[in-house]
Amino acid sequence: MSRTGVWLVGARGGVSTTVIAGLAAIQQGRKDRVGLLTETSLFENCDLPPLDDLIIGGHEVREGSLLDSARAICADSGSLGHELIAEIATTLEQVDSRIRPGILFNAGKAILSLEGIRSDCVEQDPAQAVARIEQDLREFRTENDLSGVVVVNLSSTEAALPPHPSHGCAEELLQQLAQGTTEPFRSSTLYAIAAAQVGASFVNFTPSPAALLPATCQLLEEQGCPFAGSDGKTGETLVKSALAPMFFQRALKVLSWQGYNMLGDRDGEILSCSENRQTKIESKGELIKKILGEDVHSQVSIDYVPSLGDNKTAWDLIHFEGFLGHRMTMQFTWQGCDAVLAAPLVLDLCRLMEWARQRGDAGLQQHCGLFFKSPHQSEIYDLSSQFQALTDYLQSCRQQADPSGSP
Ligand SMILES: NC(=O)c1ccc[n+]([C@@H]2O[C@H](COP(=O)([O-])OP(=O)(O)OC[C@H]3O[C@@H](n4cnc5c(N)ncnc54)[C@H](O)[C@@H]3O)[C@@H](O)[C@H]2O)c1
Repeated sequence: MSRTGVWLVGARGGVSTTVIAGLAAIQQGRKDRVGLLTETSLFENCDLPPLDDLIIGGHEVREGSLLDSARAICADSGSLGHELIAEIATTLEQVDSRIRPGILFNAGKAILSLEGIRSDCVEQDPAQAVARIEQDLREFRTENDLSGVVVVNLSSTEAALPPHPSHGCAEELLQQLAQGTTEPFRSSTLYAIAAAQVGASFVNFTPSPAALLPATCQLLEEQGCPFAGSDGKTGETLVKSALAPMFFQRALKVLSWQGYNMLGDRDGEILSCSENRQTKIESKGELIKKILGEDVHSQVSIDYVPSLGDNKTAWDLIHFEGFLGHRMTMQFTWQGCDAVLAAPLVLDLCRLMEWARQRGDAGLQQHCGLFFKSPHQSEIYDLSSQFQALTDYLQSCRQQADPSGSP
């Protein structure tokens, strides 16, 4: 028994479909392993679960098939080509057979308005919803003889959840669940609870704050589950986290940092709703003040521009002051294909979570901060310090595995 299960919540979305298609292409030797940090020399002599041993299933709340989603991506950004889709079509159908109807709980109008939403996914009783998710996860594990399962939240960005007294304590949150109270939960909270109850690792790749509440984190830790989040750092925020330290390190005083993002895919459609957009803006906006200080005037805005599809464009303007108080400006434009940037991170994170579980390393995986815009419970936001934290962690793991080995 050596296979690792990857359970994608939002399994026919843009990022998930790219993860599934990309993994199939790599496993069949049709594409090189480019863009995966876990395939670089950094991970030499680390016994990560091999990519070839990953098997995918998931939850989805819209009608459709993975082939439909792959073809939509082909028509949109072209990142999945016609030829590749034809070559992996059988695998896409196999994965599709492991995708179950997901749950929608306190989902909000933006998500409920998505085209093709299945009404039978809307749940009224939170305990029943968790029981259904748990059953799907257990079946996935036994039917595929898996050593471990990693649940990755890749579903649509939710609006923030108003604070509730039970959010601070696992026991109280579970009491609310049993009583059928609705206020403390969104869909992502219930997925995180179910992951913990079946002993699966959990990654919150979305900015949805309802997933990693103090209570769900406590539950995951108590059940021995590694977890990490939130909000994959793939584009504009990645550049910011590398660039902002440069101004600090050369005593260039940043006065203003304005970021303007345009995107046009389904994620962009969800973010055109102000409540859901606010979640993303907060996640994208926090790092400038964390790296450069509270006095920087910094704003992030996001607009839905349908014709751009998944080819997201960000324009940043940095206004700064140098010697003699002279003011200067730097601008950059980032044009990235969002799902192509995100998919390898998802695979890297799944391998790291399962590796941690195999080594008995439960709870928050602090060293995974470099993968996230809002690294959970961390004050380290700059990319090179985050990279160093990962390198140090790998070094200590190698030493634990072979105390006599040279450093
Ligand atoms: N570079 C990136 O693309 C990137 C980076 C960081 C974070 N993210 C986040 O990852 C998430 C996915 O992005 P995407 O571009 O794939 O979006 P998407 O809209 O293409 O996919 C989301 C999928 O989740 C499904 N879904 C919604 N609610 C669900 C629920 N309760 N249960 C199961 N499925 C549900 C939707 O039907 C959809 O198929 C978003 O939250 C996005 O903000 C993406």
